Amino acid sequence: MSLLNGKRILLGVTGSIAAYKAGELVRGLRAAGAEVRVAMTRGATEFVAPLTFQALSGHPVHEELLDAGAEAGMGHIELARWADAILVAPASADFIARLVQGRADDLLAALCLASPVPLVLAPAMNTGMWQDPATQDNVRTLRTRGVLLFGPAEGEQACGDVGPGRMLEPDALVAQLGEIFQSGALAGRTVVVTAGPTREPLDPVRFLSNRSSGRMGFAVAQAAREAGAKVILVAGPVSLPTPERVERLDVETAAEMLSATIKATEGADILVATAAVSDYRPREVAADKIKKDAEELNLPLVRNPDVLAEVKQARPGLFCLGFAAETSRLEEHALAKLRAKGIEMIAANRVGPAAPEAGGTFDSEVAELTLYWEGQKEALPLAPKDRLARQLITSLAQCFEQWRAEPGAAGRRVVSLHATRKAGSGEGG
Ligand code: CTP
Repeated sequence: MSLLNGKRILLGVTGSIAAYKAGELVRGLRAAGAEVRVAMTRGATEFVAPLTFQALSGHPVHEELLDAGAEAGMGHIELARWADAILVAPASADFIARLVQGRADDLLAALCLASPVPLVLAPAMNTGMWQDPATQDNVRTLRTRGVLLFGPAEGEQACGDVGPGRMLEPDALVAQLGEIFQSGALAGRTVVVTAGPTREPLDPVRFLSNRSSGRMGFAVAQAAREAGAKVILVAGPVSLPTPERVERLDVETAAEMLSATIKATEGADILVATAAVSDYRPREVAADKIKKDAEELNLPLVRNPDVLAEVKQARPGLFCLGFAAETSRLEEHALAKLRAKGIEMIAANRVGPAAPEAGGTFDSEVAELTLYWEGQKEALPLAPKDRLARQLITSLAQCFEQWRAEPGAAGRRVVSLHATRKAGSGEGG
């Protein structure tokens, strides 16, 4: 799995002869596991027909800002929110100039303005245009705003000139784009994640379990890996592929999850407990299949160990983030769990009828979370779980660093937890 796996890339194509290479770029991005939507400027459509990109991306191409038909599908604001990153390739000299001015008079420029996600430009233009002080000033301005530039490369150009200005080749762009998802915020750390449900056997063929899909935990494991951590995923029975470069330990019962997690956290820095552990298990496991002889069947249950609380007790130096799924009084219950388990941070989410927009279930594709730590709180609004997991990891990494610097005061001085393009600066090149 590449770093682009599951990422949503909005590819902007502007008017440059290099637009013909953007088709190959779409294929490369999709081969790396990314979902791609394409927005074209009018100039770009003079070079390549939108139908080409529709066929290659599998989705209609977005062209017009004020298009009632397109707005009825995925509107431009929705598209801006959908993306994990925007890549404009090729980026013409004119488009770069328009970005500097913050223009929103065509769809692609408006999307770049509206979206807070990383914006990457792959310039493609004549050498003279690239070297002109106006373009160089524009590029400097955009870099100070955190816009990333990939290329341009040097070489022979379509017009016959030789020098800088060629768009980087599609495979180089795919590789560099993947790297922006590797944040390094947890570089050198070991993170253990518990995920999924547990199964508590009743007899050789039956068990008690719950609806947890494990999606949140797997997304957290992937996000922690992308942030540079070594990740060990202790997974209950789920049918999800293991994120790339993540070590996975499969378990069934709460007892197995506890011993695997104790072992995995030896020498680890952080535990993220997303697992929906069965709080109870049948007191006895029948050796043979239970027969339907009786009219009424009572199954005595006994308490399971609390994996998170026990691991925290055994390893006080471990920074622990728990989850609290609640149907009511979210904050009160979440804070009570934070205190009862002696953990540093808790992520609370509403479940059941209280969260209709999240599907009301554990196995939904989207969720929203509120993070609590040391008298602080931060809301992470409704989003696909992979994106939510990345935000969670960003916040977690900052709180963890704060806690290490000043144990017992995790995150007290954390002011802004999310460095976005609009708030931050970036590297160019
Ligand atoms: N947890 C755990 N082991 C358990 C139960 C929960 O590790 N046996 C962890 C979960 O992974 C989660 C947090 O503890 O991080 C949830 O806290 P908990 O109070 O146990 O939540 P619920 O089980 O939902 O509690 P309740 O049913 O009382 O609301």
